[in-house]
Amino acid sequence: MTHFKYFKEKLFVESTSMLNIVKKNKTPFYLYSGQQIKENYIKFAKIFKNVNPLICFAAKANTNLTIMRMLGRLGSGADVVSGGELLKALKAGIKPNKIVFSGVGKTEEELKLAIKNKILLINVESESEAILINKIGKNNNKIISIGFRINPNVDAKTHKKISTGKAENKFGVSIKNFSSFYKKIKKFKNLKINAVSVHIGSQILSDAPYKKTLDVLSEFIKDLNIKLKYVDLGGGFGIKYTKKDKQVNLNNYAKLVYDFKKKLNCNIIFEPGRSLVGNTGVLVSKIQYIKKGSNKNFIIIDAGMNDFMRTALYDASHDIVPIVRTKRKSQEPIEFVGPICETSCKFIKYKKYQKIKEGDFVAITNVGAYGSSLSSNYNTKPLIAEILVDKNSFKIIRKKQNLFKLINS
Ligand code: LLP
Repeated sequence: MTHFKYFKEKLFVESTSMLNIVKKNKTPFYLYSGQQIKENYIKFAKIFKNVNPLICFAAKANTNLTIMRMLGRLGSGADVVSGGELLKALKAGIKPNKIVFSGVGKTEEELKLAIKNKILLINVESESEAILINKIGKNNNKIISIGFRINPNVDAKTHKKISTGKAENKFGVSIKNFSSFYKKIKKFKNLKINAVSVHIGSQILSDAPYKKTLDVLSEFIKDLNIKLKYVDLGGGFGIKYTKKDKQVNLNNYAKLVYDFKKKLNCNIIFEPGRSLVGNTGVLVSKIQYIKKGSNKNFIIIDAGMNDFMRTALYDASHDIVPIVRTKRKSQEPIEFVGPICETSCKFIKYKKYQKIKEGDFVAITNVGAYGSSLSSNYNTKPLIAEILVDKNSFKIIRKKQNLFKLINS
């Protein structure tokens, strides 16, 4: 998080002090660095420059319209998984010929929307879906550009809840069943098979699963023996949430993908989500109460699992840092928890922390991906505001949801 730094013990986003922002905005809120978003995208594109891929930002990581618009302006396309995400991508100005649509359960309505908007690819995940798309194509007298998503049976060695490429996972068509699937769909007159796609999981921290997937795909495409316009290699690149987290060596991977592309003579698509926006945001929260427990103090903050689900869902580790740093250490262990009436509404424990008091502000770090987009109205709490910093200024890029509208809806 290079754009989130202490300056004279005060936490800054770019050149804006968070203290200034909390003075003017009620916590909790998401706070993003525009520079960090731009830098991440440019860095990713640079690493894969020789591959010249179409980078389709995985909208599910962050569907804030301003953020999607920023990425779109930098050249990004979008990977969407619902009609809503598709409409958001279009609204953010992303051209249909840069949009791919994934997901195991696309509805007829969503497919029609994608077809009407002439998006680049619908990544088909089952025979029944292919039959439905072909039918829609036939009824509308259209040839529809599809890819098929393969389940390569590769273990991404990530958290089991975000692993998608093993045979036991619901995603893609298994290679085992592929030939009977293909025999059937190649006869469909209203489908144009343009691509093969894979996505083996998320928060992947080692190179091996990616290498293995390329090997499986090379073999598979060789046997398939058709000319593909695109191979969509998905996303999944992990970020460093903790010091222990290693990262995929993207430079090495870029070389492998370059060779793969040359061999197959096709275009490459990537669908990165977390790696583009994960480290671009924090969740700023106020310490509501401090309560003595029997062997630790509970620091009850005003952000809860409704605002940020990752710790409750995946036992994820996100550091919480103070907005004003002091050198005075408290002696008791503490646990940051939220207000929601669930035991899993808790964030992180520390054996030692600086001295803090009620009314102080803290920031949950690395929440730019799957933070706001996973938030909910659980316990009838409104969705919180999102704020974007640009150097020394900031603006609200999503207003806090109105409580009265929420209770009347
Ligand atoms: N493409 C497809 C088809 C996907 O399903 C996903 C993520 C991505 C791309 C982007 O993956 P990324 O580059 O962001 O790893 N909520 C979980 C993550 C779920 C990811 C689901 N699919 C979390 O907070 O860790």
